[in-house]
Parts: sequence; C-alpha cells; structure tokens
Amino acid sequence: MIMLHMLKGLVLVCLLLVPGSRSGNARSLFLVGGGLADDNDEIYSKFVELSGGSGQARIGVVTGASADPLDSADFYLQQFLAYGAESTYFIPVYIGNEEAANDESVVAELQGLTGIFFGGGDQSRLISLFFQNNGGQRVDTPVMATIRSLYEKGTAVVGGTSAGAAVMSGGVMVNGGMSYNALKYGSATDSPHADDLVYDQNGGFGLAKDLVIDTHFSQRGREGRMIRLLSDTRNQDHGTEFGVGIDENTAFIITSDLLGMNRFGEILGENGVFLVDVGSSSVVESNNGEWGIETVYVDYLREGDVFDLESWDTIIFADFKTDLNGNESNQDPETSDDIFYGSRGDPDLPPILTQVATSLFDCVQASTWGTTWEDKPMFQLNFIKGKYSLGFGGTNPSTGKFEISYQDLLIDIMEA
Ligand SMILES: *[C@@H]1O[C@H](CO)[C@@H](O)[C@H](O)[C@H]1NC(C)=O
Repeated sequence: MIMLHMLKGLVLVCLLLVPGSRSGNARSLFLVGGGLADDNDEIYSKFVELSGGSGQARIGVVTGASADPLDSADFYLQQFLAYGAESTYFIPVYIGNEEAANDESVVAELQGLTGIFFGGGDQSRLISLFFQNNGGQRVDTPVMATIRSLYEKGTAVVGGTSAGAAVMSGGVMVNGGMSYNALKYGSATDSPHADDLVYDQNGGFGLAKDLVIDTHFSQRGREGRMIRLLSDTRNQDHGTEFGVGIDENTAFIITSDLLGMNRFGEILGENGVFLVDVGSSSVVESNNGEWGIETVYVDYLREGDVFDLESWDTIIFADFKTDLNGNESNQDPETSDDIFYGSRGDPDLPPILTQVATSLFDCVQASTWGTTWEDKPMFQLNFIKGKYSLGFGGTNPSTGKFEISYQDLLIDIMEA
C-alpha cells in the first residue's frame, strides 16, 4: 500500500511539474467554490498562470449566470487584467442576448483565448443559454461546442466560481436545497419549496466527467444534500457515485491528459474540498420509515493536497503535514447538535461539520457524531474511523495555521 502511494505520488508530482501546461499537453478545469475574495492572489494568479502566464494570458469571461451580467463582466475583466492577463474578452451570452451563443463572430473570438472563466449566479441560466433543445435532446450551441473543444484540446483552461463551477458537473447537476430538507424529503427535479433539494437530471456541461460539483460547501453545510443527491441518483443515466464539494475562496484544479485520463485534483486557497464516494453505501430506513444511509466514504483535503481522481484512492498530502496517528493532541473529539450549520454566518469561523470531523483525527477516539437541530425527525450523523482512515496535519507555511486533512472517513446517517 505504502509503495503504491509513493509510486503514484511520483507520477503525480512529475505531472504537476510539467512546465507550461498550457502548451496543449493537458486539460485544466479550474473550479472555485464561490466566495472568491477580490484579493485572492493565489487563485487569480494561478488561473492566469494556467492560461499562459502574466502578459500572455488571453481570458474570456462568461457572466450569463448572473442577474446583472454586464456589471459582473466589468468586474471580472478588470480583475483578470489586474492579475496580469494580456487581454480579456467578454463572451456576451446572457439572458436577453441569447443569440450570441450561435454567433460566428463570437466563436472566432473564442479561438484566440487561453482561458475561459464563468462567474456565479444561477447555473440553470447557463444550461438554458449554452445548449439548444433539439427535439428534447440537448445539443451544444456553437459557442458551447467551441469552449468544449478548447478545453478538450488543452488550448484553454476552463473554469468558474459558484454557479460557474457547479455547471461543469458531469453527473447530475444540483440546483438548490438545504441538507436537512434533502435528508427528510429526498431529491426532485422540481419543487415549489426553496429549501428542497432540486437537481437537473440531464447534468451540467459535463467537463467534470462523472462528478457532481457543488460549491459554498462547508460554509453552507451542504454535506447532507450532496450525499442524498448522489445516493438518490447514482443509478440514473447521468448519475454517479462521486461528488466534489468545494468550499468558499478555495479552488479545486483538475488536470488530466488529452484523453481525459490520469486525472487529478489539487487544492488551492483558504478552505477545503469534501470528496464523497457513495459506491459502498446502502440506504437503510428507520423504523418510522425515515431515510438513512450507511458506509459513505469521505475525504476532506486542503491547500497543497493532491487527489487522484482516477483511483479515488490515492492522496498526496501537502508536504508540511504529517500523519496524526499516534501524534494526536486531544483526548476527545468534538460533537454538534447543529451539524449542518456551516460557518454560522461568519466566514471566519470553522464550518461545524468540518470542525467535528477533523477533530476526530486529532484525537485517539474512533468515532464522533452530530445531529440536526431540526427534530421532526432529527437525523444523526456518525463519523467513524475505519481501517483505511488517515488524518494528516501540519502548519501551512503560507497561512501560519494548523490544518488537518483526512482520508476515508466513514459517515452513517440515520434518524436519531
Ligand atoms: C507530531 O506533530 C508535531 C506537530 O505538528 C510535528 O511537528 C511532529 O513532526 C509530529 N511527529 C511525528 C512523529 O509525526
């Protein structure tokens, strides 16, 4: 096992060190979990670097998800210029200007780009703008087909934040909902209630192949909605067992070869990425008929960690971290009676579920728990260290903060 880790590690590290990955030898998908700070130099500069670098990058911006696309475009065009782009271009596809998605002059402009960035808002707007409906079948508009091709050939890095990241989903695409409602009522393609879990069964743009992408993740306590969505839809046409929940002000950068193989994700930024695998899980109902699930595997990774998406198994923890096993600093883990409260409305507070789960790896106990504050019914989440669980911690030299990542934590959810 260790040897395999190390060998894989070498391969990944070599890939990471390939200079000038914009020379068309790799695909890069740049997903930001929303809440991107204007002054997040690490993330903006990385996007510019992957787009060819300062003074070279030619970046196109899509703001069609936004309720105010022109204002949002001004903002991103200025941002990318400030972070060193050689030039920027507003891709003018938005509600009220739908025809631009078929415009050959827009397609021609796209051909010169080395990076394309989608801003936030509502991902369903992007679906309606960038696809045509051909007898009930979704077909790429010419602009979408061009963006897809630039990505696939490795000519342009494609990315986005918030809705602009969620829309890249290759599995079903989440459109909204709260974790508690998701556990209680399940998922639907439509609902009159804003808090219910709703999703698009035809998926997103599909650039994040076989993955459900969600954003604002730990900060809004979206772990329950991701687990429920994956579990409900895993056997559908666009279903998948794998989900990636990206935190605010944090990027998950997926790199692969030009066949889409050797795919790995690297974490950059302030918070983390929650990776879910429901492949070994089973749905179990309570005596009252409430939904529950056993044996969901999750990982939570932070800046500098690298995840092998191919195997969904190998992680290279940032080199400033060490194995916490045998070196734990606490006796008991934390618990919570409001496990999906997220960052409690204060982005400076650690999100609750993250805090409880990571505390388990810095102590000697084998399990901990959290419940929902809602009690009709109340759900309980059990967090359990298993045979393959690993926790790594260390002080991030770029922040001076002690950060914990973990691999293969088991989660069970059931009526309390
Ligand atoms: C134990 O943790 C400390 C503090 O993070 C670290 O400096 C040290 O290297 C760790 N020891 C081992 C054996 O990993």
